[in-house]
Amino acid sequence: MKTLSQIISEYNAFKSKGLKLDMSRGKPAPDQLDLSERLLTAVAANGDCFSADGTDCRNYGLLDGLPEVKKLFADMLGVNPSNIIVGGNSSLNLMFDVLSRAMTHGVADGCQPWSKYEKISFLCPVPGYDRHFAITEFFGIHMINIPMDANGPDMDLIEKLVSEDETIKGCWCVPKYSNPTGITYSDEVVERFAKLKPKAKDFRVFWDNAYVVHDLTDKPDTLKEIFAEAKKYGNEDMFYEFASTSKITYAGAGVACIAASESNIKRILGWLKFQTIGFDKMNQLRHAKVFKSIDDLKAQMRAHADLIRPKFEVVYKVFGELLSEYKDVSWTKPNGGYFISLQLPKNTAKRVVQLAKEAGLVVTPAGAPFPYGIDPDDSVIRIAPTYPSVEELETAARLLCCCVAYAICEQSQN
Ligand SMILES: Cc1ncc(COP(=O)(O)O)c(C=O)c1O
Repeated sequence: MKTLSQIISEYNAFKSKGLKLDMSRGKPAPDQLDLSERLLTAVAANGDCFSADGTDCRNYGLLDGLPEVKKLFADMLGVNPSNIIVGGNSSLNLMFDVLSRAMTHGVADGCQPWSKYEKISFLCPVPGYDRHFAITEFFGIHMINIPMDANGPDMDLIEKLVSEDETIKGCWCVPKYSNPTGITYSDEVVERFAKLKPKAKDFRVFWDNAYVVHDLTDKPDTLKEIFAEAKKYGNEDMFYEFASTSKITYAGAGVACIAASESNIKRILGWLKFQTIGFDKMNQLRHAKVFKSIDDLKAQMRAHADLIRPKFEVVYKVFGELLSEYKDVSWTKPNGGYFISLQLPKNTAKRVVQLAKEAGLVVTPAGAPFPYGIDPDDSVIRIAPTYPSVEELETAARLLCCCVAYAICEQSQN
């Protein structure tokens, strides 16, 4: 094992290079965006602006989306097209709106608006997606950390809390290739979600299936379909599912959807009509023309995987080479998604992020994958390997490992 002075001289050598590296946000790289170039010309100049059912997509209409795009999302999620509403460019926006309407109008007949309760709480499996937690914080909703393991959230704890505490109105979930751990909920976890018996009748699960088709390896994870399971227990109204093509076509310029039970779809459409006359059907049409079936979409995802896989692999290679000797250091090796989660000894993550920043490497702030930005153990760093090139990643990963060694060695001497 290296001494602190050896590590510091290595660190200073990195620092003197004037590096400018970024492993912080889960964005597709430019070559991934190039895979969707067909979208730019999908609606030809000959005025072919009609969907399969003859709808002129240049005009108002079809609040729930083009039938062919509903079918595409339905096939992606394993539900019926009638259970899909196609939205605008962002699933996060749909989540925000569903939550916002729950605050102002409640989630079902006879349920009071969440904002009328003195206190409401959300369960937040951790580490999780920072923007989910930002939404709940924005609405002043109290957040409760739920630990996760390789199978998903701690279901014993979730079952206990929701059965006892009526202030708990919701739970965030990223059930497949979770952000940032990359884990997929086991069948048992999905089944236990499906049969939850919450004390609050207006409890809802926000099932954000952002990475449902984002497999990286030839041994992809499988996720049990939540609505079929929930139906067995009469619980299908308890789930709102979300997805988008942000990491299939264009990030922030794709198409998003919400999947829900028949009665929730009806209710959401009843609210949506006050928000918009209709979403961008021209963009929906472009997507429908590029992806004529789920098989076309899966082929696109294989092309993404071929570009991304070497990036994940170079990070694993460097971590394996430089971090294996450290106790309490481990990292996830997901079969898909956009992230690797680096687990460090307690009270070192912030220091590692600071050291990295001073040497020219931006990583996601320590604490970001936790509610209120607070990691109680200060021990998790989210790695986003998709955007930089393989060469940049190799340098970034080596520098990060040097920072990890620095922080651990420094801590052991204090
Ligand atoms: C879990 C998760 N949900 C949602 C999003 C954002 O999706 P959209 O671009 O559809 O708003 C992301 C983006 O990183 C994500 O990781």
